[in-house]
Amino acid sequence: MKFETPATTNPIDQLKIVGKPVDRIDGPRKTTGTAPYAYERHDVAPNQAYGQVLGAGIAKGRVTAMDTSAARAAPGVVAIVTTLDMPRLEKGKTNTASLFGGPEIQHYHQAIAVVVAETFEQARDASAMIRVEYARTPGRYDLEAEMPHAELTAPESDDDSPPPPPEDRVGDFEGAFAAAPVTLDATYTTPDESHAMMEPHASIAQWEGDKLTVWTSNQMIAWGKRDLAKTLGLEPGNVRIESPFIGGGFGGKLFLRADAVLAALGSRAARRPVKVALTRPMIANNTTHRPATIQRIRIGAGSDGRITAIAHESVSGDLEGGKAETAVMQTKLLYAGANRLTAMRLAVMDLPEGNAMRAPGEAPGLMALEIAMDEMAEKLGMDPVEFRIVNDTQVDPEDPARRFSQRQLNECLRLGAERFGWARRNATPGARREGRWLIGMGMAAGFRNNLVMKSGARVLLDASGGVTVETDMTDIGTGSYTVIAQTAAEMMGVGLDKVTVRLGDSSFPVSAGSGGQWGGNSATAGVYAACVKLREAVAQRLGFNSAEAEFADGVVRGGNRSAPLGEAAGADGLVGEDTIEYGDLAKRFQQSTFAGHFVEVAVDVATGETRVRRMLAVCAAGRILNPKSARSQVIGAMTMGVGAALMEELAVDKRHGFFVNHDLAGYEVPVHADIPHQEVIFLDEVDPISSPMKAKGVGELGICGVGAAVANGIYNATGVRLRDYPMTLDKML
Ligand code: MOS
Repeated sequence: MKFETPATTNPIDQLKIVGKPVDRIDGPRKTTGTAPYAYERHDVAPNQAYGQVLGAGIAKGRVTAMDTSAARAAPGVVAIVTTLDMPRLEKGKTNTASLFGGPEIQHYHQAIAVVVAETFEQARDASAMIRVEYARTPGRYDLEAEMPHAELTAPESDDDSPPPPPEDRVGDFEGAFAAAPVTLDATYTTPDESHAMMEPHASIAQWEGDKLTVWTSNQMIAWGKRDLAKTLGLEPGNVRIESPFIGGGFGGKLFLRADAVLAALGSRAARRPVKVALTRPMIANNTTHRPATIQRIRIGAGSDGRITAIAHESVSGDLEGGKAETAVMQTKLLYAGANRLTAMRLAVMDLPEGNAMRAPGEAPGLMALEIAMDEMAEKLGMDPVEFRIVNDTQVDPEDPARRFSQRQLNECLRLGAERFGWARRNATPGARREGRWLIGMGMAAGFRNNLVMKSGARVLLDASGGVTVETDMTDIGTGSYTVIAQTAAEMMGVGLDKVTVRLGDSSFPVSAGSGGQWGGNSATAGVYAACVKLREAVAQRLGFNSAEAEFADGVVRGGNRSAPLGEAAGADGLVGEDTIEYGDLAKRFQQSTFAGHFVEVAVDVATGETRVRRMLAVCAAGRILNPKSARSQVIGAMTMGVGAALMEELAVDKRHGFFVNHDLAGYEVPVHADIPHQEVIFLDEVDPISSPMKAKGVGELGICGVGAAVANGIYNATGVRLRDYPMTLDKML
């Protein structure tokens, strides 16, 4: 189905089930430990052996020799595959470095061997017995030092849309900036960050001749299948992937990684199924991370507070052939201003591969931009909320002919200010003290693009009136199972108890997958399209006019007749299958989601310790398909925003080129006690331009802007303006 915009009235608009705060249908299985994760699939692939991945102990150079004799003689060892046993494997489309093969080492902990044994302990012990000799070459590990060599780089886009230009100019930025009466020129830094999901990357592989099945933990089934086939030189039709439950991803599982490849290679060598989980210390350096950025922002405004010139330039690092972090993207769209410059530069470095982490681009970009906006508001003597409102734009400021499908940023900011009690904020920094705590309030705008992605599904009706949805969509903890069930129930006029949802299997129709906050809206729109087909088939079988037939309470009605829905299924069942496509919709309209983030912090006057006291997010993200799961997404993202503001940082060893704090003891993330009070308000919004669901993404919007709101709160509390994340105690004093 080609989506014709704007969406007309359709059965989803009944909102009998869609739009309700339904509990997660996978919740009981997740909370009772009965939802099987990849590593726990004891129900498949009998006689599984354990694979342990060995990572390179250098960051750059070559493996000159590997002695596996002791490891091969160790108890329980079944097979060993080393990187010297095969030429470098082809990269998948989404990989920057090869995942295995050949002597060359491109980054620390790049996989160099897999040891397969009868037990996990035997595999781990034997892997430690492999003696490796290296020829080390110097590498580039310091972003600041590499910054002068950085070059403008167009990032690849995740979806099918063309990549944004690496440098964009509108008007005469330099001239307007020089002429502006009020200006800011400041540099902000964000560190390398790790996804730190609960479930590590894990896979079980099984071969039957040339056919490979992998039970894994992956957000994007179709990408994974494509890249696994390419890496191993297989026909894509011979690769099957299953990933029905995922214990968190945050972008770290968008891509094929070493666990799947080495489970497959280990299994081929061992001639039996092999399971591999990356150990926690492997994840930081063997998989992807959010790359550090250095961002320079210049803003010029008239004394009326209107922005006349805005420039945002970001530098980030990645391996050769990698991409720049798209940290300037929101600055192209968030505020008005006639003279503009945005640029993204890539410094080629030899640290592990950088890539998407929750709201890639906007999350680190807003951490900088929204501090800059706070600084400008202060220079102008304006309230920071008012400064943003004055600079709102309802059209793409680089291309005024393109308008936003919906844009209620000002409404988010106004409502947020009112609900949060912003009027009680003292604009003078350091003016409010309670005992040993300095109290401050900060705010920031939130912005995240809404991408629409092609998405397919198959819906099966059985004789009892039961409906089963099959799509390769994944649920990474976001609630996909639930919103898909709600969509199918609404469309087919049945209760949720009549709907079964099956996800994450590459034998199902290809969906949008889970990434870039496109999953919820796009995947349910695909289910909508399949249900439209099924409704037509039902109407035809039962002899109803399909335009008039009504589906409710398990019954189809039309004219003066009615029939049970299940009657249409006959003995063999009835199937509707379709894929929703959007054509050039993304070109014609700018689709984005908006938020106002408000934070109150307390900073210990003696130690500089920051405690977040309360947080509010007001979000405008189209129709909210399930307010409970959407709220959970937003509070999770807000929590991650606090982590980015105050704690999270992969510490780089600039001599040896690796992330030092590669476990959850050293890489700190917030815990419940760090987050006392969070409130989320969704504006009542319907976006008929986004899809037949009239919904948008929300799972990444929640993090966008939070870090800066915390930083601005710290400034209001203390008068200390921090521009380098994370804002730890040492920087405060
Ligand atoms: Mo998201 S970083 O695209 O999973």
